[in-house]
Amino acid sequence: MERVKVLVHGVLGKMGQEVLSAVSSAPELEAVAGVDVKASKKEILLPDGASSIPLSRDLETVLRSCQPDVLVDFSNAEAAMPAVRTAVGHGIAVVVGTTGLSDADLNEIGSLCKKKKVGAVVAPNFAIAAVVMMHLSKVAARFFDYAEIIEMHHEHKLDAPSGTAIATARDMVQARGSDFIHTSAKKETIAGTRGGDLGGVALHSVRMPGLLAHQEVILGATGQTLRIRLDQINRAAFMPGVILAIKKAAELKEAVFGLDKLLGL
Ligand SMILES: NC(=O)c1ccc[n+]([C@@H]2O[C@H](COP(=O)([O-])OP(=O)(O)OC[C@H]3O[C@@H](n4cnc5c(N)ncnc54)[C@H](O)[C@@H]3O)[C@@H](O)[C@H]2O)c1
Repeated sequence: MERVKVLVHGVLGKMGQEVLSAVSSAPELEAVAGVDVKASKKEILLPDGASSIPLSRDLETVLRSCQPDVLVDFSNAEAAMPAVRTAVGHGIAVVVGTTGLSDADLNEIGSLCKKKKVGAVVAPNFAIAAVVMMHLSKVAARFFDYAEIIEMHHEHKLDAPSGTAIATARDMVQARGSDFIHTSAKKETIAGTRGGDLGGVALHSVRMPGLLAHQEVILGATGQTLRIRLDQINRAAFMPGVILAIKKAAELKEAVFGLDKLLGL
């Protein structure tokens, strides 16, 4: 079987580098090119240190010369959509990990892929453990009246609470069919101590060095609690999900949104 040829868009970024490394060591895949707005050389060295592939700022030219099967995008919300339009326009499948895309962007990806009969996998979280944690939290939600989420991230994270914590809480409330019971303290001596409130789920954010991405969902009922805990210790955690998505995108004829769909959850 021919190897799936992969172009990495945003290749000089933190995730782009990780993807290049993972693709290069996956036997069924072949890294054929990298594109990044910061590119200052014409080639990028592969992690084996022996071979290199074309590097460019110009996606259109590289697509023509390298003819990838799949474009993997980890850039930013402004750069992702033009790259997707160009790739799908050329009949090339896409895997989009960039976050912050609007509903209009997602709809556009869906209809572009349908029109061109091209595959796409778009997922805000490629970490399989995170996706399974969210699924388990949803399953557990209807058996409990109380739920709180403590999410813990590195000190440079810009937003709070994390997108994963918000999505987990929303999915849990939806699965339960009604809000959880949120108990506020009669006297909150320090404001915010009981956390944010999303559908009765109290959300607490911890930010400090020594952490990467962690989340604990605590569900409570009479005399019992259930804790579902996620620990993600590095960016490599996203790679099994990205590799799976690349292989699936190459076979699909439409867009799939969320890694959970590929995992059959
Ligand atoms: N889906 C997931 O599981 C997942 C996991 C981690 C990060 N992310 C998301 O992936 C994205 C990238 O994250 P990162 O930490 O690697 O960021 P980063 O800033 O390290 O890398 C982004 C790269 O994109 C490049 N870029 C910017 N504009 C470009 C353009 N117009 N054309 C080509 N390249 C361009 C930048 O030069 C940079 O090298 C973010 O949106 C982040 O939230 C998603």
